[in-house]
Amino acid sequence: FSLASLNTFRIPARARHYLRVTGAAQLDAVRRDPLLAGLPRLVLGGGSNMLFTRDFDGIVLHMAGLGKEVLGERDGRVLVRAQAGENWHGFVQWTLAQGLGGLENLSLIPGTVGAAPIQNVGAYGTETKDVFHSLTAYDMASGEVRTLDAAACRFGYRDSIFKHAQGRELVVLDVTFALPVAWQPNLRYAELAKAVEEAGLAQPTPQEIGRIVEAIRRRKLPDPLDIGNAGSFFKNPVIPGEHCTRLLAEFPNLVHHTQPDGSEKLAAGWLIDQCGWKGRALGAAGVYPKQALVLVNLGGALGADVVRLARAIQADVKARYGVELEPEPVFI
Ligand code: EPU
Repeated sequence: FSLASLNTFRIPARARHYLRVTGAAQLDAVRRDPLLAGLPRLVLGGGSNMLFTRDFDGIVLHMAGLGKEVLGERDGRVLVRAQAGENWHGFVQWTLAQGLGGLENLSLIPGTVGAAPIQNVGAYGTETKDVFHSLTAYDMASGEVRTLDAAACRFGYRDSIFKHAQGRELVVLDVTFALPVAWQPNLRYAELAKAVEEAGLAQPTPQEIGRIVEAIRRRKLPDPLDIGNAGSFFKNPVIPGEHCTRLLAEFPNLVHHTQPDGSEKLAAGWLIDQCGWKGRALGAAGVYPKQALVLVNLGGALGADVVRLARAIQADVKARYGVELEPEPVFI
């Protein structure tokens, strides 16, 4: 089964088995099937955060359940639920169209609702965890359907329990978000605050902020429909304060954000850019000219081409800044 149209990098990988999943019943059937239960499993949403480095010799579970509903108001928040297969941006727009704010900073992120909690998707100062209420997941080990709240999901920067051993057997079926009734814009991200000001919006609405976020993203990030990519290819590295102080002495323009614990988060895009990689290519894999953090498929790239480019970038950043860049997408 070809996965080329099921990963936004558009790597031409194949899977031995494929199942389109719209509910827990099919997962139950897989779990009870003596042949299928023993196979390696790959849960796929929009395929926007994966890099296939080889064919997948197992079963792909393509989460495709649809549906979204407003559950009602509780404690000053409106609870909204969507099935895992809903397109993320479509869901964000649906909430905004009903006058519900809270997800606007997360506009235009590729992928599905079910994938959002896996890596605690975040952009422009908002992370999934900030608007998350709970989710329902099917446990492939026990066959139970479980409800997990935010604490149980153990959200971190681009991280959650689902990326670790304790959460590997859990398949997200639907996600419930808690959106504020008394909405306030989140303009903590300087670039967004500046764009809102430049648009002359003293009291922006959630819809207006959503449109501005879309405009910023379209300016900097390639549309996977035009150019294969998986968004940021590396996480922004967090380093000890002393390391940052030493780097600043040598590189005064270093982009850094002090974390609550005194560590420093650096802009990986800036580091890569400074190493001269922006707009460069190795074979069919390239660094996007408008945002150095995004690696792209220039046409016909294999996973191995992207990995080779990523390794070269990691080596240069390590040599110049002593900083390890960790890939953000999941390597298959
Ligand atoms: N920068 C450069 N050169 C570049 C790219 C960036 O100098 O080529 C500098 C920018 O000038 C800026 C800083 O690096 O000072 C940060 O850049 P930007 O605002 O574009 O954000 P980012 O840190 O590169 C992160 C997320 C994005 C998210 C944006 C906005 C990660 C790994 N990436 O990127 O998420 O959209 O912030 O919040 O945290 C994704 O995860 O796929 C993704 C796109």
